Amino acid sequence: MNNTLFSLKGKTVVITGGTGVLGTAMVKALVDFDATVAVITRDEKKFNEKMKGLSNVFGVTADIMSTESMKNAAETVIKKCGTVDILVNGAGGNQPGATTSDTNIFFDMPIDAIRDVMHLNFFGGAFIASQVFAREMVKNDNGTIINISSMASMRPLTKVLGYGAAKAAVNNFTQWLAVHINQNYNKKFRVNAIAPGFFLTEQNRFLMINKDTGELSPRAQSIVGHTPMGRFGDPEDLIGALIWLCSDSSKFVNGQTIAVDGGFSAFSGV
Ligand SMILES: NC(=O)c1ccc[n+]([C@@H]2O[C@H](COP(=O)([O-])OP(=O)(O)OC[C@H]3O[C@@H](n4cnc5c(N)ncnc54)[C@H](O)[C@@H]3O)[C@@H](O)[C@H]2O)c1
Repeated sequence: MNNTLFSLKGKTVVITGGTGVLGTAMVKALVDFDATVAVITRDEKKFNEKMKGLSNVFGVTADIMSTESMKNAAETVIKKCGTVDILVNGAGGNQPGATTSDTNIFFDMPIDAIRDVMHLNFFGGAFIASQVFAREMVKNDNGTIINISSMASMRPLTKVLGYGAAKAAVNNFTQWLAVHINQNYNKKFRVNAIAPGFFLTEQNRFLMINKDTGELSPRAQSIVGHTPMGRFGDPEDLIGALIWLCSDSSKFVNGQTIAVDGGFSAFSGV
């Protein structure tokens, strides 16, 4: 038995969205498995707060929506660590304007809101960081990218039009980039995604919790009812899949989107 199969010792990981609810749990796990972690952050104060007490983590201030800014971030990481082995594209989110509601019907939806959500989740959340960091990472023989997708990517969820479209694009990009890099640059490189089920976080609180009563909304009740395991996810539920995809234990897994959803995507509802 090779007990170093899941080790990330000696690996440098770059993560976007590392100060978010799911991102913070991922950073802690990456450190636990002995990686050095560079967190791309737009908010140094939040980074310091969230990463308090963690060693082997450093922040790099950059704007994930800007290629120039991300190029500077890559330079900083490479200067400090010599190389980048793993990129976790964790930044993303939704906003009310890109979500249908009684006051935001489909026919009047502002295109800017849809565009912003698609830009954030596809360009900022996957494309730009992959473009910038993979240019360096393909020079190594152990490069791997993990995109963070969503249940909304596989079958559309009601209301979240822009977010679902963007995350569907992330899944497609995951497959495309896996093939493209293998065919053109490096046969050992891997690109995969994790599609988390439903976790209570800031980005979806407005859809899940009735702000007046604090109770689960009918939508949240329906989600739990459609999740065979009967609960929301805990951020720690993502860790096994993350470490597996980052480490050599998944070295022949490529172009896949792995659902971590308590069975949500397996259940037809009948
Ligand atoms: N919470 C869920 O149920 C759920 C489910 C499926 C997928 N996801 C995905 O998981 C990832 C993490 O989400 P989370 O729930 O932890 O959300 P979160 O809001 O707690 O964290 C989102 C992170 O993205 C960063 N971010 C957002 N907009 C940004 C911008 N314009 N520039 C730079 N950084 C920006 C935030 O700073 C934060 O670090 C996202 O990609 C999200 O879409 C979440």
